[in-house]
Amino acid sequence: PIPVIIDCDTGVDDALALLFAVRHPGIDLRAVTCVAGNTDVDGVVRNTLTVLEQAGAGDIPVARGAARPLIEPVRTAQHVHGLDGMGDLGLPAPTRVALDMDAVTLLRREILASPTPVTLVPTAPLTNIALLLRTHPEVVRNIERIVFMGGAVATGNATPVAEFNVWHDPEAAAVLLTAGVPITMYGLDVFQQVLVPAADVQRLRASPEPSLRMAGELLAHRDPATSGDPTPTGGLGDAGAVCAVVDPDGLTTELLPVEVSLAPGPTRGQTVVDRRPRPGESEIHEGEREVTLVDVGLAVDVERYVKLW
Ligand code: BDR
Ligand code: CA
Repeated sequence: PIPVIIDCDTGVDDALALLFAVRHPGIDLRAVTCVAGNTDVDGVVRNTLTVLEQAGAGDIPVARGAARPLIEPVRTAQHVHGLDGMGDLGLPAPTRVALDMDAVTLLRREILASPTPVTLVPTAPLTNIALLLRTHPEVVRNIERIVFMGGAVATGNATPVAEFNVWHDPEAAAVLLTAGVPITMYGLDVFQQVLVPAADVQRLRASPEPSLRMAGELLAHRDPATSGDPTPTGGLGDAGAVCAVVDPDGLTTELLPVEVSLAPGPTRGQTVVDRRPRPGESEIHEGEREVTLVDVGLAVDVERYVKLW
């Protein structure tokens, strides 16, 4: 199995990502780290512990990370994910607490301890990942790839051009993009496509198995008419990024230069993806800046990922 660490802000669709990662035999989920995003970091920790426990994976190490972005204030998305950040489904409180160790320390420990290189899957603002890369740069030698949910080639959700995870902490996203490891961007363009048919959602909701029932309730909770959520009811959201780890062939990517706009104003947090043809160029320079090439998800086989999940 592929050693995987998820860094999340659970989060309705982060929960769907965790459930999938826990159950897929091709994934060895080594740890889960939490960061402020959809809700405050303590809420994220609580939700993450609950989901893992419901899925029978109460032994996976969980650590609390950054309570706010590097520069920006916290701007949660409770209008999308509910007051508790998990759809206000009345899920039970967890019976354990997070490790007495911060997220960056746990990330370093698990990455360096893994006998084979780890795939990191951030499904949240990139604050923890930026802090990790700056504090312990030696971790890159044992990272296979970073598959992150974030960014958008076309339209944003937090702003007309910026996707929430990148917009919440643009400086952190900029650090990620210059990490010097292979990166896959699972952005809004594909994120919004992967919808579970209503009949399957109903089947999950009727399941006698608690984690399947929870998955069904999570998929069902959003009303796109009132939530203003980019992911209509039934969206796998962040879980699609984990699908891209075990089944990369379901995602059509192109290796493209990507930069984050850090400028104040209407473009802040935008992922600027350069789709101009660049025959023969393997290193991209924009003036003084060296721009990283990222495998950008441009299309997704929806049926394949829904079935896989
Ligand atoms: C991202 O923001 C969160 O609401 C989702 O969990 C996803 O990670 C989408 O922009
Ligand atoms: Ca998320």
